[in-house]
Amino acid sequence: MSERISVFGTGYLGATHAAGMAELGHEVVGVDIDPEKVARLSRGELPFYEPGLPELVRKHVDSGRLRFTTDASVAAEFADVHFVGVGTPQKQGEYAADVSQVEAVIETLGPMLDRPATIFGKSTVPVGTAQRLADRLREIAPAGEDVYLGWNPEFLREGFAVEDTLRPDRIVLGVDRDRPGTVEEVARRVYADMLDRDTPFLVTDFATSELVKVSANAFLATKISFINAIAEVCEASGADVRDLADAIGHDERIGRKFLGAGLGFGGGCLPKDIRAFMARASELGVDQALMFLREVDGVNMRRREHAVTLADDLVGGLSGATVAVLGAAFKPNSDDIRDSPALDVAGTLHLRGAQVRVHDPEANANAARVWPTLTYVDDPIEACTGADLVIVATEWKQFRDLDPATVKAVVNEARIIDGRNCLPAQEWINAGWQYRGMGRHSQ
Ligand code: UGA
Repeated sequence: MSERISVFGTGYLGATHAAGMAELGHEVVGVDIDPEKVARLSRGELPFYEPGLPELVRKHVDSGRLRFTTDASVAAEFADVHFVGVGTPQKQGEYAADVSQVEAVIETLGPMLDRPATIFGKSTVPVGTAQRLADRLREIAPAGEDVYLGWNPEFLREGFAVEDTLRPDRIVLGVDRDRPGTVEEVARRVYADMLDRDTPFLVTDFATSELVKVSANAFLATKISFINAIAEVCEASGADVRDLADAIGHDERIGRKFLGAGLGFGGGCLPKDIRAFMARASELGVDQALMFLREVDGVNMRRREHAVTLADDLVGGLSGATVAVLGAAFKPNSDDIRDSPALDVAGTLHLRGAQVRVHDPEANANAARVWPTLTYVDDPIEACTGADLVIVATEWKQFRDLDPATVKAVVNEARIIDGRNCLPAQEWINAGWQYRGMGRHSQ
């Protein structure tokens, strides 16, 4: 059955969710306070890069099932189900998450709700937020007790956002312990297609649903920092972290995924989520429980410094050296440069006196806004031309497929740091390159 849905926020999460809901057959209005974003989306254009999403947005703008507006009252009028997918970035100067955008949606939408409605929060929030918002909604919504809140965290990955939205590996719903029924029924209608396919559906309380989300990201961050900590030991002992990860990854209890040692994690989620989690634990008086996340963060940041030190060693002093940095996005198939290890390394090399030439297939423009003093070029070979050192900082397929001989013909010195351990090392060595991986001392 088709539902009338609104989605507040049209970033990676909101835009994908809105298009995904239209694909499931619902009628959707996406709401954003940014008129420029709304205008572009209404033309079927995306303000960011996400494979497959422009096609899906266009398909449903054309089908008439998806439209966008800056006017929250349009959403209140039209929809009975509202999703909140706005950002919760790190607060300026502290670890805690800034939930003001979520609160703003509730404060705007709440007073407009004069008939029964269900709101699902999808944004990542500190535990305790949902209950507070549910109480507030009852206070400010004219429909009062007929307005329900559910917390429905999102687990999509950038680069795979469409796939993860349409075929999630689980649906988690947090409900108010005192009034659980209605929200679950509405969620079952909205997600009927996925539930018919036996997607695991876990209904729990607000606090658990909020914690599920941050715990999942904290676990992933911990797994990456675990292997990066082992990489440090490999570097000191002459071992190879890739072989090690392959070997331990065969143990099903461990698994090979997210054991990719390299420059570590970045992006708009993992770094800020572990920090917000620590801040919230501290407020709850259990800061010791999450003390290890400080170390997870520390290991992660050390990888970036390590790459810069390695670069300095390889070129014999960065001052005046020309370095090609391949990659600026925090991961491939994305133009997102938030807390990007690649861009962090590129910027630090520049500050240490190197001439830095950056190429990213999608993120050059975003990177140039943050680091305008670096040189950006449109092609990896152009970036490498005349370089004393090449660093692969984001594992785009274009870089993994580079031909060592072709690149060698244009560089000044054939030295390469594989910051993501993504290159066929032996091929590069055979072609005459001095190759350094991360946690791969032997090469
Ligand atoms: C992450 C989670 O994976 C999603 O489940 C979650 O929904 C999302 O955050 C969110 O909270 O919105 P995402 O930030 O898109 O998704 O990126 P990931 O694929 O998790 O990668 C994060 C970082 O870890 C990247 O910088 C990546 O290069 C790095 N990484 C990943 C490694 O360094 N090694 C690995 O083995 C895997």
